[in-house]
Parts: sequence; structure tokens; C-alpha cells
Amino acid sequence: MTVPLRVNDPVIVDVALAGRSYSIVIGRGQLISLGQRMAALRPGAKVAIISDETVVKHHFAATESALAGAGIRSTRITVPAGEKSKSFPVLEQVCDALLTARMERGDLVVALGGGVIGDLAGFAAAIVRRGLDYVQVPTTLLAQVDSSVGGKTAIDSRHGKNLIGAFHQPVLVLSDTALLDTLSIREFRAGYAEIVKYGLIADADFFVWLESHWQEVFAGGPAREHAIAASCRMKAAIVARDERELGERALLNLGHTFGHALEAAAGFSGRLLHGEAVALGIALAFAFSVKRGLLPVGTAERVERHLAMVGLPIKVSGFTDGATDPERLMDLIAQDKKVKHGKLNFILARGIGASLIASNVDAAEVRAFLDEKLAQ
Ligand SMILES: NC(=O)c1ccc[n+]([C@@H]2O[C@H](COP(=O)([O-])OP(=O)(O)OC[C@H]3O[C@@H](n4cnc5c(N)ncnc54)[C@H](O)[C@@H]3O)[C@@H](O)[C@H]2O)c1
Ligand SMILES: [Zn+2]
Repeated sequence: MTVPLRVNDPVIVDVALAGRSYSIVIGRGQLISLGQRMAALRPGAKVAIISDETVVKHHFAATESALAGAGIRSTRITVPAGEKSKSFPVLEQVCDALLTARMERGDLVVALGGGVIGDLAGFAAAIVRRGLDYVQVPTTLLAQVDSSVGGKTAIDSRHGKNLIGAFHQPVLVLSDTALLDTLSIREFRAGYAEIVKYGLIADADFFVWLESHWQEVFAGGPAREHAIAASCRMKAAIVARDERELGERALLNLGHTFGHALEAAAGFSGRLLHGEAVALGIALAFAFSVKRGLLPVGTAERVERHLAMVGLPIKVSGFTDGATDPERLMDLIAQDKKVKHGKLNFILARGIGASLIASNVDAAEVRAFLDEKLAQ
């Protein structure tokens, strides 16, 4: 494992997708290079920056001046912060604002924000004039390691999360790790759960590295860049092999089947952030793997120890009201995973760094496992 030699050197991770390849530029202070990079990609393009009210307060001025420094004038489109902006009414406003700004093919949309903005702006870019190019400037840890990479864009429907969307790859991802300094520790931790996920899926050495370097990742500095770059490299490699999730990309859902159900049961509220639900989901997936005889119990305990060490939740029984009703959780799992004849697909583990897609898991077995866990 190597870390960049100097703090100011960006780490570049390439996402190799035939005619639609792009770079992820990662580094502290890299925002300043945004204008030059965009001008090099699309000389003379008009630019519209889509962001949320919280992010705008912290990071809009620096983004605008990074563009102005390269002679780029930009329009700003601001939406309220939070998941509720991934909705039809807000999407309509954003599309309308893009057309009012006379954005045309060849112009560039910038998604400046967390996963909500990336998903919303990416989807608006996918459909306005049948597809505008866009740049991701992720400002949460979750967005820097996960949602800004891979081209999944979406809004939510009353039928569920992320149900209306498109695959639309960005032309550039610029992750300035200093932007995370204004993020709350709780949001940072939630994003960290996704970093742990990558180690658990396919890279035991990375998980071991996290066990001894997590404090430096939280503190900022080269270890943070390294963790983000390693995560992006893993996601980029998986996306390059399976862009549309016909197979291997499903591994990225480790911890997400249980996690999404818990998140939905908590009403997608601030009570349980996505990454916190993922931490609980990972703990459950490992415990379930133990139960199915895939893993020694010590391995699941080791994973739980690390999640708990950074302050992430691991005990699902700690959640009261609706979220711990097994009947409701099973309903939500069924909705998420489309149970066929009582059988489910699950991401399980044979070890740290050795996840697998288990199809044909019996819903009754999952229910018995949940009953047991919720009673603990
Ligand atoms: N497309 C994908 O592949 C993918 C993958 C994972 C998650 N997602 C989506 O991502 C969304 C969650 O993303 P998120 O956790 O980034 O949520 P978010 O975008 O809502 O950001 C979380 C909060 O942090 C604030 N914020 C963002 N950056 C900040 C900064 N630098 N300083 C201070 N505050 C800041 C936001 O205003 C918001 O209130 C969900 O909608 C999820 O479905 C998409
Ligand atoms: Zn996730």
C-alpha cells in the first residue's frame, strides 16, 4: 500500500469504459484545478452548477472562482438539502433552470454536493436535451467513495428509493478531500462505512490497513486520500467489468439488503443515516454468514469491532419502534430484492475480502435469523 508522496499531488483513478472513460481526481486542495480541467475537456462550454443550500454556503464561492480563474462563467441552481430533493418536483425545477440557462449539448453540468446532488444533477443531465455531459464534485465522504463513481443516477418515487433514473457516466470526478473538513463527524463516519465495505468485499489487506490507519483517515492528510483512492479504484474496476449490474457489481450491495430495510423502516430520516444502516447491514451480513457456516464467528466479531471502534452502530436491537419489527423488515427486504418464490439474493462473506453473491436464500431462514438478532 502506498500513499501519495506529497499532499498536493492528486491521485488519479481512471474508470475504463470504452468511449466513455473518465478520470477521478483525488486530492486535498484540488478544487482549484476544476476550471482548467473542465476547460481542457470542453473548451468554451457553458456551465451550470447544481448544489444544495448547505453545500453552497460552504463551498460555492471557491467553486465559482475556480471556474472563473479558467475564464468560465457559471449559472447556479440551488435546491434544498436532503433526500427530499430527489423528487419529481425538484427534478422539474432543475431541468427547467437548465433550459432557462440555455444549456445545450456540449455544455457542462457540475454536481456540487453529496450523493443527493450527484444523483439528482446526474439524472437531470441525463434527460435534458437527451443528455448533457456532467462533472461530479462530491462533497461528502459517501459521495467521494461511492455515489460519484459509476454513473448511477436517480430520484425517488413513492414506490421506493432510486426507482426513476438512468445510467449516465460523468466526464470527470473531482474529489477535493479538504471539502470534507466541513462535514459533520456523523456524516463522515457514515461514509466511512462504505470504505470498510470495499475492504470486506475484495481486499483483506485494505481492511487490515484501515484497522490501523482509520484515525488518520478521519483526521485528513495522505491516509484520507489513500482510503478514498483505494475505494474508487475498487469501484472503478468493478464498474468497468459490469457497468449495468448484471453480475459482479451486485457485490457492492454488501450490507445493503439489511441496510436498506432498516433505513426504510426508520423512514429515511436523520435517525439512521444511510452509512449507519450499511454498518448495521454489514454486521448482519457477517453474522448471517456465520450462521450459514461460511465463516468462523471470530471473523464477524473482528468486523464488528472495527465498525464499533470508529463509532458506527452494529447492534440492530438498539433500534426501537418500527425499525425492529421483523415482519416489517421482511416486507421491506422483499420489496428491495423482489423475492421470487420465497427466495432472496444476498451478499454474504466467506472471509474478510471474500464476499459472494448467494442466490436462492430462503426467506424463512432470513426471518428466523432476524428474529434471533432482534431479540438479542
Ligand atoms: N448513485 C450511486 O451510485 C449512489 C451510491 C450510494 C448512495 N447514493 C445516494 O446518495 C445519497 C446519500 O448521499 P449523502 O450521504 O452524500 O447525502 P447528502 O447528499 O444528503 O449529504 C448529506 C448532508 O451533508 C450536507 N453536506 C454535503 N457536503 C457537505 C460538506 N462538505 N460540508 C457540510 N455539509 C455537507 C448536505 O447538505 C446534506 O445535508 C442517497 O440518496 C443515496 O441513494 C447513490
Ligand atoms: Zn451505500
